[in-house]
Amino acid sequence: MDKVDVATSLQAYRLLNPGLVVLLTVGNGEKDNVLSVAWNMPARKEPGMAAFLTDKSHYSYPLLSETWEFGINIPDVSLVDAVYGCGSTSGRDGDKFARFGLTRWKAQMIVPPLIKEAIAHLECRVCQVVDLGDTVILLAHILAATADPRHFKNGAWIFDNGLELIHHLGADRFAVSSRAVTARKA
Ligand SMILES: Cc1cc2nc3c(=O)[nH]c(=O)nc-3n(C[C@H](O)[C@H](O)[C@H](O)COP(=O)(O)O)c2cc1C
Repeated sequence: MDKVDVATSLQAYRLLNPGLVVLLTVGNGEKDNVLSVAWNMPARKEPGMAAFLTDKSHYSYPLLSETWEFGINIPDVSLVDAVYGCGSTSGRDGDKFARFGLTRWKAQMIVPPLIKEAIAHLECRVCQVVDLGDTVILLAHILAATADPRHFKNGAWIFDNGLELIHHLGADRFAVSSRAVTARKA
C-alpha cells in the first residue's frame, strides 16, 4: 500500500481525530459558555472518568476553573452547524447558546448548564490537571450521565432509529457515523 507521510506536515493528530466531537459547557451560575471539543476521551470505567484537552487561551478556561465542573453534551448531526459555530467563535463576543439555538438545561450535580438539544449528557468534576504549557489535559470524575434511550441502550449506541453521530475531520469538515457492525468471533 502506498503511504503518505503526514507526520512531517503536522497533521498526524488528525489520524486519531475522528472520535466523537462534543459540546462542552462551563459556567459559574452567572456566566456560562459552550465550546466544541474533539480531543476528549474516556479515562476510567469504574468510577467513570473522562478527559479532554483545552487551550488555556479560550474564554472558557478561566470560567471552567471557577468551579472545575463541566458538562459534556453529545450532539447528533442535527447540531453540526452549532458544533462548528461554538468551535469557531468565542464567548467573549456574545452568548453562543442564543447565537446557535441551544437551550440551557439544568444539570443534576454541577453548576454549569447542559444543552437540551444534545442526545446525551455527562456531568463532570475535574480531579487532576496536567499542565502542558499553553494547553492542559483535564481529568474528571463523571458524576452523572443520561442518554436518549432511543439511541443508547445496554451501554452501547444503537443506530436503528436513524442516529447519526459526528466526528471532526478538521476545519469545517465532519464525518457521520450511522451504523454498527458486529465482528466475527475470534
Ligand atoms: C470541531 C471542533 C473541535 C474542537 N476541539 C477542540 C479541543 O478539543 N480542544 C480545544 O481546546 N479547542 C478545540 N476547538 C477550538 C475551540 O472550540 C474554539 O477555540 C472555541 O472558539 C473556544 O471558545 P471560547 O473562546 O468561547 O472558550 C475545537 C473547534 C472545533 C470547530
